Amino acid sequence: MATIVITGGTRGIGRALAHRRLAQGDTVVTVARSAANGERFLRESAEHGERARFIAADLSTLSGMRAAIVAVAAGHPGVDALVLGANDLTPRRAVTEDGFESVLALYYLSRAVLARELRTQLERTPQPVVLNLSGPGITQGGVQWDDPQLTRRWSGLRAQLQAGRANDLLGPALARQGGRTRYVVYNPGFVDTRPYVGMRQPWRALAELAAAALAAPPDQAAAAIGALLDAPPEPGFSAWRRRGRDNRRIDPALRTFDAADAERLERLTLDLLAAVD
Ligand SMILES: NC(=O)c1ccc[n+]([C@@H]2O[C@H](COP(=O)([O-])OP(=O)(O)OC[C@H]3O[C@@H](n4cnc5c(N)ncnc54)[C@H](OP(=O)(O)O)[C@@H]3O)[C@@H](O)[C@H]2O)c1
Repeated sequence: MATIVITGGTRGIGRALAHRRLAQGDTVVTVARSAANGERFLRESAEHGERARFIAADLSTLSGMRAAIVAVAAGHPGVDALVLGANDLTPRRAVTEDGFESVLALYYLSRAVLARELRTQLERTPQPVVLNLSGPGITQGGVQWDDPQLTRRWSGLRAQLQAGRANDLLGPALARQGGRTRYVVYNPGFVDTRPYVGMRQPWRALAELAAAALAAPPDQAAAAIGALLDAPPEPGFSAWRRRGRDNRRIDPALRTFDAADAERLERLTLDLLAAVD
């Protein structure tokens, strides 16, 4: 049976996926910030005993990323799937203890760091997958190369779109490492993961209305993601979106996956991390 690590596995899509995989007999390690939500996940999963695990870590900080990596590596020599789902719809600009704009840190940097640092554990398994839950296929917004910390103009949407594009570009960058890992960037579509606790009014009320009318339940997204984990694509990079319980490929030639931008982002990422170290 497989070992699946899910960041953001205590709520929303990640939680639904965690419960599905536990029911299928996998070992599931969830990583999230809130210890209370982690304990709730463990209570819900008590029937699965040691196969359900929780690591408390604030993945917007480098110390939290490192703690999570050490805990995963210590407990699990092989990781079959790393599902990157932790994100936070913060209503105002915040700066982490390392000096990073918080959306960039959590939604992009933590994913880049975890995927690279857990590569050894991934490559030990037969069909490893890194599945990055974000927004491939969205062409609005982008990386603000001259101001990635968004010091001059911040909005929640701009920050999410920037980190989402960075996740698009992370796929091709990781795939350049070679190996048998499948680097999948995945758009789950509109999924009802209320409550939208971090959103300001009236956006929160509007989002809740729209979700009630249009969004898929988290378990539907989890079923589609599970299907991709069970029959993973070829090694290297691919981009997908959910359609109902099925998945559709996104054209890898889309300009949002541009190879030169991917290289540029890799250099920027190394510079950002080096400035802290
Ligand atoms: N829902 C959608 O319609 C939709 C659409 C497109 C893409 N996506 C993407 O899919 C992913 C999952 O979305 P979702 O709606 O299921 O999210 P969600 O319900 O808001 O859950 C987010 C998860 O991230 C964790 N988290 C938040 N801040 C964290 C931090 N600093 N450190 C560690 N963990 C942290 C939360 O854990 P705690 O709060 O318990 O710590 C929670 O488990 C996200 O990347 C999102 O961008 C979602």
